[in-house]
Amino acid sequence: MTETGTSSGTPSHRPAGISRETLNRLPHRALGVDVGGTGIKGGIVDLGTGELVGERFRIETPQPATPDAVREVIAEIIDELLSREEAPAQEDLTVGVLIPGVVVDGVVYSAANIDPSWMNTDLDSLLADLPGRIRTLNDADGAGLGEARYGAGFGQDGTVMTITLGTGIGSAVVHDGVLVPNMEFGHLEFEGRVAEHRASAAARKAADMPWEDYGRLLNRLLTHVERLTAPRLFIIGGGVSKRSDDFLPFVTDTRAPVVTAKLRNNAGIVGAALFAAEQEASARAIRDGAVD
Ligand code: BGC
Repeated sequence: MTETGTSSGTPSHRPAGISRETLNRLPHRALGVDVGGTGIKGGIVDLGTGELVGERFRIETPQPATPDAVREVIAEIIDELLSREEAPAQEDLTVGVLIPGVVVDGVVYSAANIDPSWMNTDLDSLLADLPGRIRTLNDADGAGLGEARYGAGFGQDGTVMTITLGTGIGSAVVHDGVLVPNMEFGHLEFEGRVAEHRASAAARKAADMPWEDYGRLLNRLLTHVERLTAPRLFIIGGGVSKRSDDFLPFVTDTRAPVVTAKLRNNAGIVGAALFAAEQEASARAIRDGAVD
């Protein structure tokens, strides 16, 4: 399933689930924006390598983080990125935007860790007059797609499950390179509670839980998730993955290997940019009747 790309915008590995037609139509570069609880970050992504071109740009998340306030910051970030010499041409521009909630057809359907006013917000319409063709998705989905396609999951077929440990727990399922969106395993009932209320990085900190105990807790959570989904690989992301040496040695009982994210803080931006560009390229291929 590993193939060499044919144009410089094409990743050197073609996942089984992505058509050649779609890959050939990918632009070389796209923008990704990741809306988080404390910062909103954006970058220009080289879709051939999955690397950022130039520095990422970050603005503090406005408080309260209402949809209108966040929209202004997203607009500012896109403007800054487009002012750079390395920016993609406007006619070629796709932008992926991540939000920490369930997103279906551009509408946000959960607000567990964001301002409640996001519930039922039509994010696609809110962003419609910003530059480029904008696609929106869940934050963990963006990170999981980035990791699966360019990071710790590169070359892995079957199901790759990324779990992000932060204020909440995000999860992303990528199968043969294709994202299955909105898999909210952080909201599983786990040992009598919502999983993220117990096992997120924020919950560990609030409970002042030693790293070893945290590792054992994650071991139980991941083996539970494995029984339900049987992934080939688990990838652990989120800021706390920096401390993985302190807790991963206690995650011992999963059949699938458990590894830490490679793209670190940029996984979301990279995955968002790829998602937007691929969605657009595949929509165009279908429109032109050119799917292989
Ligand atoms: C949300 C997810 C999100 C995760 C990480 C959870 O509370 O339900 O949609 O991906 O937090 O931000």
